[in-house]
Amino acid sequence: MRLLFLFGVLLISNIGCTQNSATKTNQNNIHVGGSCEGCEAIHESPTPFDSLKNLCWLPDWNDKGRKLAINGVVYKSDGTPAPNVIIYVYHTDQTGIYPKKGDETGWGKRHGYIRGWMRTNEKGEYKFFTLRPAAYPGRQVPEHIHVTIKEPDKNEYWIDEYLFDDDPLLTDKERKNCQDRGGSGIIKVKDVGNMLKAERNIYLGKNIPDYPKK
Ligand SMILES: [Fe+2]
Repeated sequence: MRLLFLFGVLLISNIGCTQNSATKTNQNNIHVGGSCEGCEAIHESPTPFDSLKNLCWLPDWNDKGRKLAINGVVYKSDGTPAPNVIIYVYHTDQTGIYPKKGDETGWGKRHGYIRGWMRTNEKGEYKFFTLRPAAYPGRQVPEHIHVTIKEPDKNEYWIDEYLFDDDPLLTDKERKNCQDRGGSGIIKVKDVGNMLKAERNIYLGKNIPDYPKK
């Protein structure tokens, strides 16, 4: 029974704005960001990190659904733009599941094929194009886009998911559960006619456990 309870706690803690488990260290042997299940998926980029652009079109872009473009700037803890930060995002499809094609390997078996990688440019900018995801069917979990980042000299770690300010499932309770890792992930979408647009800046180190202080 205790084991069952523990399993339940672990399961619940994995929903919403948080992710858990599995650790990995960086070159300096200082692990930042705590544990994270699946963050290593960032290394499954089909394009080498050095060749990634700061723009990314996710595979669902041409499917039927509400087109969405999200852009922002990644800032270092000293307030200057952060170039060469790898950003990995993945999310559900229009039915709220992580769709698979059947040939996925690695974390693609869980994250599905709607995922993408990008690398911030010299100005710290990134932008990705996708469809607005649907919430999990039959559950009260808000629509979300998972995101993992990797700075050049650190291990990969998760930051707050992208959440939608106008999502009825994003209740006050859900908002309070957010940890503001990397800054708030709650985005306000603007309908520009042919697509939705939103902006989110990312602040490296903000509310990230064991992040080195200047
Ligand atoms: Fe999810």
